[in-house]
Amino acid sequence: MHPLLATHAAEAARRLTPDVHRYFAGGAGDQVSLDEAERAWSQLRLRPRVLRDVATVETGLELLGTALATPVLCGPAAAHGLAHPEGEVATARGVAEAGSLMVLSTRSSVAIDEVRAPGPWWWQAYVVLDHGLTRERAARAADAGARAVVLTGDVPYLGARHGATRLDLTGRPDPRDRQDPSIGLEAIDLLARASGGLPVLVKGVLRGDDALACLDAGAAGVVVSNHGGRQLDRAAATAEVLAEVVDAVDGRAPVLVDGGLRSGLDVLCALALGADAVLLARPVLWALAVGGADGVRDCLGAVTEELRHCMGLAGCSRLADIGPDLLHRRP
Ligand SMILES: Cc1cc2nc3c(=O)[nH]c(=O)nc-3n(C[C@H](O)[C@H](O)[C@H](O)COP(=O)(O)O)c2cc1C
Repeated sequence: MHPLLATHAAEAARRLTPDVHRYFAGGAGDQVSLDEAERAWSQLRLRPRVLRDVATVETGLELLGTALATPVLCGPAAAHGLAHPEGEVATARGVAEAGSLMVLSTRSSVAIDEVRAPGPWWWQAYVVLDHGLTRERAARAADAGARAVVLTGDVPYLGARHGATRLDLTGRPDPRDRQDPSIGLEAIDLLARASGGLPVLVKGVLRGDDALACLDAGAAGVVVSNHGGRQLDRAAATAEVLAEVVDAVDGRAPVLVDGGLRSGLDVLCALALGADAVLLARPVLWALAVGGADGVRDCLGAVTEELRHCMGLAGCSRLADIGPDLLHRRP
């Protein structure tokens, strides 16, 4: 783990109330998937290249038409207001200052049109029982400047969060606003239309066949994720299934990944497995709780700087140089 992220995590544990800390930190069931996520990245081993010109190392990329300074993005998480009084407004400022992109949760503390992110952002959608409400939110997100919609597909029901991690600290009692468990692939088209034609990525994909089905149904990309171990416990670690999804997608669309990424080295490994970009969720919440917008900027900036350093050591001067040949397959 990057030392700054470790400091933020420890300091946030001291500052947040125990309820809020458990809500952010926790996972579902016995927390097997949660516990495995970080370890799975550290199991990967590298085969660095030597004698490549790495005098300058670039971390910039273009993702669905948006130029970004870093492939380290801010993932969607509910209720940033529990971490900081300014909530997602502060997060959005920090993300923009890092030259990154924010995915704003449906369950944000600040209303979609009040975040006014100074940088590029995507809106994360849940299709709720009231489809009219979903369409209205997607239209508001598009009007407010969202450049894509991220449909979260792994929450037909809330995962089994035991004890304090089950507390619904986001406070959304309206039954119309619960996730609709009956939706299928047509939800991709529903969101594309409601948002006036924004690209729709599907988040929560852990299988190659699902990724292909999503693309065939019109998705513009997929996010390999097990929801930070908060949904189906014992869902596979994303580090272990990413390659299957990348193989299936075969370059047709961007593949993003999240879950337990805590350092530039983790990010290098994810990109070597074929991801185009990664998302961090809990590290951003801890950074926000400790340092507000500046904390978020520093968190994403530190991971990006570490990625740059590791790229140099691995003989890669651009993200395009990072490929599966960098990974060592143990005998
Ligand atoms: C407190 C919390 C709230 C979350 N809320 C959402 C959400 O509203 N929508 C969503 O798609 N994912 C949500 N997630 C899942 C994250 O986007 C992400 O998939 C997961 O946390 C993995 O990243 P991490 O290990 O960096 O935290 C949430 C995660 C946490 C920890």
